[in-house]
Amino acid sequence: MTVDYRSWIRDIPNFPKEGILFRDITPLLGNGDAYKAAINTLAEQAKNWGAEVIIGPEARGYVVGAPLSYSLGIGFVPVRKKGKLPSETVSVTYDLEYGKDILEIHTDAIQPGQKVVVADDLLATGGTMAATIELVQKLGGDVVGAAFFIELLPLSGRDKLQGIPVHTLVQYDD
Ligand code: PRP
Ligand code: MG
Repeated sequence: MTVDYRSWIRDIPNFPKEGILFRDITPLLGNGDAYKAAINTLAEQAKNWGAEVIIGPEARGYVVGAPLSYSLGIGFVPVRKKGKLPSETVSVTYDLEYGKDILEIHTDAIQPGQKVVVADDLLATGGTMAATIELVQKLGGDVVGAAFFIELLPLSGRDKLQGIPVHTLVQYDD
């Protein structure tokens, strides 16, 4: 089924702050055909990359990563903000627009050499995904690809991802 994903993404001006144009994926998530087509397309790509496990950063990375892993019949590993994971973790500090934040992953979540596909809804500056990739690499995982619904081209997020293959469904020039 061919889906015009862009028509299922809503532009919200001045959210969360004045001057920001927010690309809202909730219409896409709310439409069964569009959501399924989006996941199926990224799942095909993840399969071609040889994914053995899918990793997604909280929170919106879960609505992409979890159905991807279910669709492929492989595991899903959550990356969470600091203090949320109950067992032993490793952490990475990353830059936000204002200030810094910390992401964590369970140390036993990935086996050395395991082929990992990382997934999120949006590639903007790439800070979130660069930190997620760093966590995987700290555990010896092999990041074979990064999958997103949306890419904001002017922010050049790809440049932060160490040349790892990237697949995005919709690209915005502005
Ligand atoms: C948003 C989005 C991505 C990230 C992209 O997450 O879901 O994870 O920003 O931006 P970047 O490429 O500049 O890092 P956010 O931090 O708003 O949190 P959420 O997923 O919990 O809503
Ligand atoms: Mg996010």
